[in-house]
Amino acid sequence: MTSIPIAEIKSPLTVVPIPHSKKRKLYIESYGCQMNFSDSEIVMSILQKAGFEHTHQSTEADVILLNTCAIRAKAEETIRTRLKQFRSIKKNKGLMIGILGCMAERLKAKLLEEEKIVDLVVGPDAYRDLPNLLAQVEDGQKAINTFLSREETYADINPVRLQSNGVTAFISIMRGCDNMCSFCVVPFTRGRERSRDPKTIIQEATDLFQKGYREVTLLGQNVDSYQWKDQKIHTHCNFSQLLAKVADIHPLLRVRFSTSHPKDITDEVLYTMKKYDNICKYIHLPVQSGNSRILQLMNRTYDRAWYLSKIDRIRQIVGNHCGISSDMITGFCSETEKEHEDTLSLMEKVKYDFAYMFFYSERPGTLAARKYKDDISLEEKKKRLAAIIDLQRKHSLLSNQKDIGKIHRVLIEGYSKKSKNDLFGRNDANKVILFDKGNHAMGDYVDVKVHKCTSATLFGCVVHTAITKTS
Ligand code: SAH
Ligand code: SF4
Ligand code: F3S
Repeated sequence: MTSIPIAEIKSPLTVVPIPHSKKRKLYIESYGCQMNFSDSEIVMSILQKAGFEHTHQSTEADVILLNTCAIRAKAEETIRTRLKQFRSIKKNKGLMIGILGCMAERLKAKLLEEEKIVDLVVGPDAYRDLPNLLAQVEDGQKAINTFLSREETYADINPVRLQSNGVTAFISIMRGCDNMCSFCVVPFTRGRERSRDPKTIIQEATDLFQKGYREVTLLGQNVDSYQWKDQKIHTHCNFSQLLAKVADIHPLLRVRFSTSHPKDITDEVLYTMKKYDNICKYIHLPVQSGNSRILQLMNRTYDRAWYLSKIDRIRQIVGNHCGISSDMITGFCSETEKEHEDTLSLMEKVKYDFAYMFFYSERPGTLAARKYKDDISLEEKKKRLAAIIDLQRKHSLLSNQKDIGKIHRVLIEGYSKKSKNDLFGRNDANKVILFDKGNHAMGDYVDVKVHKCTSATLFGCVVHTAITKTS
């Protein structure tokens, strides 16, 4: 005889107790890199299936999740401050607060000890366990899973697009990082590098295109070392081949990618970029420092001359119009004033279109923290940072000024933050262009003639509507 669960016996006289008949509300905030934002969409998908619904209001949430970053000390301080702000809402009994992502992975159970209002700590490879862990919390326990996997890529999960403009989307193609840059916490928080099955990537990109999306950005800490081997059918796929497959989906689907490690980007990738009009001509190629001794201490595996020859190669193969951006760190252990000037002189040589710049922040457990003294004063680090920011601003302005008078193909992504009469989009080289709204709509491709600029933005007028989303 099969037994019937009590809740399923229906009679007009009994009220069936359905636990959580009202969907519980989940509020999620993301910090750090795009991979984290993309992970939050995976988390949302997992929890939607477990009966949660998304809310934009932390005050009406039953569960608050913070998907955190650990890259610099400041990133973690931001989370600690945010947690303090949640104390008053937590008084509303039943609210569960969870820390996900890189800070969860780095601090593990210590986070539960240090932050009393946290109920749940979950690392980046353990999101499938979230429904169980939340059930434990509901039972009055604290819950933690920071297991790092060698296989998990969440390949089968269809992300819920949380911040969607309906035009651009991110697709994670790999997880983790096997490089050991001495300053970096990511290999510890994200684990070993693993690539996702290309079939599932193509499927996700095709599905997005069919839903009206017109741009995908392929994400990974080091996309150029993407490598998929299918043992069963003896096939393999490298990053260049993956790029081509995604670009082949449709000529109207733009393809971008981030981040490229200079040591791994190959000529094959550069030729693929050149071959396909819909692969955007833009490469984020972080240099970190312009001095070879510092690069060696950072364990970046290239030196100044090698990096500069890579830049030449990009310009030779893809063309001078290819946008190039960088990340830079000032005040790394033992960096002299002269070595700092090497970063400035490298910037003069390359003339990046854009850069993200930071002062060095020692991260516990990294090679640099164990081997080298963090001996540059905060004041000096900040002074050097101000110098590179200043120089970059000049280069960004110079780069933007060169675009004045030219016509750029732009994919429209949304309204300008400042005015509902203006739309914005990006050109091939990833530069933001603002223009008059006219009759144009999000998802349309338009040709815009640029007539003025600042160091951050180009301003122009539409001279031709190239392709409308509905055409
Ligand atoms: N995978 C990417 C970078 C990921 S982290 C790459 O290899 O390029 C993003 C940037 O944060 C890095 O490029 C670096 O410039 C910066 N960063 C990483 N660790 C840092 C630290 N300890 N202090 C300051 N900046 C850091
Ligand atoms: Fe960090 Fe280096 Fe890996 Fe980038 S490549 S995530 S900087 S270890
Ligand atoms: Fe931060 Fe983790 Fe990304 S440390 S930069 S959120 S991989």
